[in-house]
Amino acid sequence: MIHSTQPIDDATPLDDISGLKLPSNKVYTLREIYIAEATNIAVATIKYLSASPSKRRAPFTYDWLSKLHVEMFGNVWDWAGKFRQVELSIGIKAYQIPTALKELVDDIAYWDKHKTFDIYETATRIHHRAVQIHPYKNGNGRWSRMLANIYLRQNGSMPVKWQEDLLSKENPKRDEYILALKAADNGDYSSLIAMHTITY
Ligand SMILES: Nc1ncnc2c1ncn2[C@@H]1O[C@H](COP(=O)(O)OP(=O)(O)OP(=O)(O)O)[C@@H](O)[C@H]1O
Ligand SMILES: [Mg+2]
Repeated sequence: MIHSTQPIDDATPLDDISGLKLPSNKVYTLREIYIAEATNIAVATIKYLSASPSKRRAPFTYDWLSKLHVEMFGNVWDWAGKFRQVELSIGIKAYQIPTALKELVDDIAYWDKHKTFDIYETATRIHHRAVQIHPYKNGNGRWSRMLANIYLRQNGSMPVKWQEDLLSKENPKRDEYILALKAADNGDYSSLIAMHTITY
């Protein structure tokens, strides 16, 4: 499918529309793409968050992590669920992604079994590690927050309302969220944990 090479919005690099699966008869704005993504993500939200998902439905295995990304973005992007091959300003080196995700899966199983942390801290650490790894070309934030919410919902808590209906730059909590992630990078999880305890 060939898309127009015209830029969508000034700020959007051309690169960002490669792999777009929407009909190629028009140029899409960022907002239109965001809405298509949100429509896709809504299917995953219903599947995993409308009731507490079983371990079978949400097993937190290596393959399931990418299956979830496909379920969230696969109608819109052909690279959904596929690890990025390029380096980004956020995230580890591309070649380290498979190993880092395997370690995360093992750590989640260990934390779960040994009750190392309470469910809010576990959800926080899943979220933070997943977004630090940044496995995919885009959608890592929404996917990581979904992972944390699925973990919370599976463990008897309600999900966090992240206001995913707003474009990230419109979200009034965005700066606070990024600061909390940076604190977590330095080992201080307290602000990010606090954000996971404010559920519906
Ligand atoms: N310094 C930073 N600035 C912006 N995002 C950061 C930063 N550090 C970590 N992140 C994480 O990276 C995510 C953005 O990555 P990406 O664009 O792949 O995800 P997304 O789901 O498309 O974005 P968004 O969260 O904006 O909807 C943020 O949501 C946040 O979790
Ligand atoms: Mg993004």
